[in-house]
Amino acid sequence: MSAPRGQWNSKIGFIMAAAGSAIGLGNIWRFPYVTGENGGGAFVLFYVIFVVLIGLPYMYAELALGRATQQNPVGAIEKIRPKSFWRMAGFLGVITGVGILSFYAVIAGWTVAYIYKMFVGQVGGFGAFVADPWSEISLFALFVALTSLIVQKGVSEGIERWSKILMPLFFILLLALVIYAMTLDGAGKGLEFYLKPDFSKITGRTLLAALGQAFFSLSLGMGTMITYGSYLSKNDNLVTSGVSVALFDTLIALFAGLIIFPALFTMGKDPSAGPTLVFVVLPELFAQMPGGLVVGALFFVLLTVAALTSTISLLEVPVSYLIDDHKMDRKTIVWIVAGITFLLGLPSALSQGASEFFSNFGLIPASFTSADFLSQMSFIFGDIALAVGAISLSIFVGWVWGIDKAADEVEKGAPLFAKTRGLWKFIIRFVIPLVILLVLLNTVHIF
Ligand code: PHE
Repeated sequence: MSAPRGQWNSKIGFIMAAAGSAIGLGNIWRFPYVTGENGGGAFVLFYVIFVVLIGLPYMYAELALGRATQQNPVGAIEKIRPKSFWRMAGFLGVITGVGILSFYAVIAGWTVAYIYKMFVGQVGGFGAFVADPWSEISLFALFVALTSLIVQKGVSEGIERWSKILMPLFFILLLALVIYAMTLDGAGKGLEFYLKPDFSKITGRTLLAALGQAFFSLSLGMGTMITYGSYLSKNDNLVTSGVSVALFDTLIALFAGLIIFPALFTMGKDPSAGPTLVFVVLPELFAQMPGGLVVGALFFVLLTVAALTSTISLLEVPVSYLIDDHKMDRKTIVWIVAGITFLLGLPSALSQGASEFFSNFGLIPASFTSADFLSQMSFIFGDIALAVGAISLSIFVGWVWGIDKAADEVEKGAPLFAKTRGLWKFIIRFVIPLVILLVLLNTVHIF
C-alpha cells in the first residue's frame, strides 16, 4: 500500500463507516416516499428481493475491486485495464457522487432546521419553509461545508470517529418509535398498505424504483464501496462485513416504514406526497406524542449525523479519485469539489416552491417521478446512473478483470466463502447484468 493512502483503524471502524455510508436519508426520507409513490407492499417486496439477490453480491464485487487494487473507482479500472474505455464506468461513479450529493445535501439541510424547529415547537409550515430561497440555500451551503470540513481531515480520523458512537443510538431510537407507532389508530391500515403486496400496482417504474432504491440505500453502483474497500486490509472479512452492512441498512429502512405508514394513515394523509412526505408526517407525530418534541429533536440530530456519514462517503469518491490521479492536495480538492456541488445543487434547493421554473422542471415524465428539479435529480442520479454504474462494474468484474481473481479476493479473510463461490460467480456474471438490463430496457420502453 502506498504511503499517503489512509486505512481503517479497526474492522468495526470499517463496518461502521460503510454502514454509515449506507444508512442515511435514503432509509428515512427516500425509502418511505418512494414506497408511497409506488403503491406500498409490492414495491417493498421487490426492494427486499433486490437487496438480497443483487445488492449484497454486487457489494462484494465493489469491495473486492477496491481492496485488490487499493484505488479509487477510476484508478481501480486503470490498474486492471489501462487506457481502456472501461474507465468511463469509474468516471460515471465520480460524477454520480457529485450529482447525488448536490440534492442530498439539500434534504440534509432540512433535517438540520428541524432540530431547531422541534426545540421551539414549530411543527407545521413545512411548505413555506422549503419555499424560502434564503433559508434553503444557507442550510444547503452549511451542510456541504460541514461535509467538506470532515472529508478534508482524511479517512480514519474524519470518517470513522463519527460513525462509531451515534449509529447504534439511532437504531435504538427508531426501534422505540416503531413500538410507539404500533399503538396509533391508523396502524392497521398503515401496515396493510405497507406490507400487503398488491401486485396489480406493479408497473415498469415500480421495478426500476425498487432496484434503484436498493442500490441507493446500500451506496452501490458509483464506487463508494470500491473506495471504502481500498482502505481495507487483506485480513478483513468482506463477506461478514457486507452482511452486517446490508442487514442494518435494510432493517432501518423497514423500521422507517413501520413508523411513517401507521402515522400517515392515522393523520389521513396521502402516501404518494413525494419528497416532502417524511417532513410533513414525522413532526406532527412528534407533536402529538407525550414528550415528543424532545424525542423529535433527538431524532433529527441523529438523522443529521446519519446524513453526514453518507454525504462524507459521497464526497470521498470524487476526492479520492482526484488525490490518486492528479496528486493534488486533499484540502484544495475538497473545496473545489464542494464549490461545484454547491452550484449544481442550487436548482434543487430552489425546487420546492422558491422558483417556479425549478419546481415544475418536468424533464423526466411524471409517470416516473415528481416534476420538481430535486426529484428529477434523484431519479437521474439515484436510480438510472446507479443502475448503469452497477451493470458496467459487474460486467467489468465478471468478464474483464476475471471472475476467479475477484472471487479469490473476496475469499481472502473469508474462507467460508468457498462454499458459495460458484453461486456468487454466476450472480455477478449473469444474473446482475441481465436483471438490470431488463429493468432498464423496460424503462426505455415506457419512455
Ligand atoms: N446510501 C445513502 C443513503 O441511503 C446514500 C448514498 C448513495 C451514499 C450512494 C453514497 C452513495 O442515504
